[in-house]
Amino acid sequence: MTPRAGDTDNTPADTAGGGPRAARDGAEFVVVANRLPVDKEVLPDGTVNWKRSPGGLVTALEPILRANTGAWVGWSGIPDSDDNPDIEGIDIHAVPLSTQEIAEYYEGFSNATLWPLYHDVIVKPEYHREWWNTYVEVNRRFAEAASRAAGEGAVVWVQDYQLQLVPKMLRMLRPDVKIGFFLHIPFPPVELFMQMPWRTEIVEGLLGADLIGFHLPGGAQNFLFLARRLAGQATSKGTVGVRSRFGVVQVGFRTVRVGAFPISIDSGELATLAKSRTIRERAAEIRRELGNPKTIMLGVDRLDYTKGIDVRLKAISELLAEERLDPAETVMLQLATPSRERVESYKQMRAGIEQLVGNINGTYASVGQPVVQYLHRPVPREELVAFFVAADVMLVTPLRDGMNLVAKEYVACRGDLGGALVLSEFTGAAAELRSAYQANPYDLDGVKDAIQAAVEQSEHEGRRRMRALRRQVLTHDVSKWAESFLGTLGADSDTELSANRGVHLVDEPR
Ligand code: ADP
Ligand code: G6P
Repeated sequence: MTPRAGDTDNTPADTAGGGPRAARDGAEFVVVANRLPVDKEVLPDGTVNWKRSPGGLVTALEPILRANTGAWVGWSGIPDSDDNPDIEGIDIHAVPLSTQEIAEYYEGFSNATLWPLYHDVIVKPEYHREWWNTYVEVNRRFAEAASRAAGEGAVVWVQDYQLQLVPKMLRMLRPDVKIGFFLHIPFPPVELFMQMPWRTEIVEGLLGADLIGFHLPGGAQNFLFLARRLAGQATSKGTVGVRSRFGVVQVGFRTVRVGAFPISIDSGELATLAKSRTIRERAAEIRRELGNPKTIMLGVDRLDYTKGIDVRLKAISELLAEERLDPAETVMLQLATPSRERVESYKQMRAGIEQLVGNINGTYASVGQPVVQYLHRPVPREELVAFFVAADVMLVTPLRDGMNLVAKEYVACRGDLGGALVLSEFTGAAAELRSAYQANPYDLDGVKDAIQAAVEQSEHEGRRRMRALRRQVLTHDVSKWAESFLGTLGADSDTELSANRGVHLVDEPR
């Protein structure tokens, strides 16, 4: 796959910046994301260490950019740093953020306003004008950095909710480039989005792109409705016409396409790794280290209130109380990557989870044999794969999640057709992984029943379900996702939007 700009419906860039200029140097393909693929860490002795950044966005995009030489514009994760780490095949452009910008743009507007608003207001979004002003300023800085990184006629792919104003800002700076935007989290229902005081600015910011992608058709439909309702209102320069039909918004003379592109993982690579001898041996060792329990249950998440870690712990606690799970035969392992630790709602949630873990162990553990084991740290990739291979039941119970790559990673790792996946209906992945044990995370009895069914499934039933899940995950990997998005972005804008066909299923119906 070589992402290249197709014919564009934009005006040429030869007058951008005030006068004619020569073709620019720069990358043909640029990813713009809040985070770089690696996070900078300064150790107590002053040495610098770069480690993998948290979250699904980096998991998905890193292999895409490795396969295509290109540039990545993003923030290094610490204040005031413009160091560009060396990553083979990727030209890194760090965008520095000050301590105040991190507080107002990243922790504030991105993660205490947009994140809860777009995740069904699980916690109450906070609206502060200073946060918004900093969000605008930082988005401008990212747009300028992208403009510097992109060669003439490049494809620039802007990622996620932190950068929703970048498409419009970049278009003003560089009308020659082709701009894609992908939202990695859910796009909210219209009624919730209408709370946002800067709703029109956000919709217009996104409409600067040539193609806007969501995980699910529902998100695309919500956006299309809002574009019609909010954009194109009277401005001081007259009225900009905005019309929309299924999958397309007409903004003046420009056509913006809107579609569903469910993201995925590098499933082939994970499947190969999972069946290696080292990983299988490590998985067996993990089972021994956990005391050879009959059932290992596993949760793997960023420590985020959207992930429903409390839901699964409460369900397990009640199952133990009702003697539907035996504490002598069961271990629940919860791996939780620290996340957004200075945001108040995250601090509160962490305290709540740790209290639940303590309560369960206090009531049901015996000496040297905790029922719930909890690690508040990221684990190395290979170790994680060994945990997936060892786990009999994978618990993925978010209250809302754009996709949830962990569910797909677990399935990719189970080439032995062992294991069972308990999956919240409110993840994007639920649309594809129909053979999982699905449950409504707000219905605790339903979650308990799903966990019990998964624990007690027959080998035949387990293999049947896992086979169906694997068909979906292995045939829809992340390179297909990127090809589908970039192919649509590069295609003529008059082409029928094949992207809006929604989720392709090869999984069997339940
Ligand atoms: P999100 O993007 O909201 O964090 P996803 O499930 O889509 O959620 O992606 C999370 C990514 O982070 C996955 O690739 C997962 O393997 C990885 N991850 C999550 N928790 C851990 C952990 N404790 N250790 C290592 N990797 C983790
Ligand atoms: C989710 C978001 C990403 C984000 C990641 C990690 O996957 O969609 O944009 O990078 O979480 O969160 P963080 O705040 O640590 O970048």
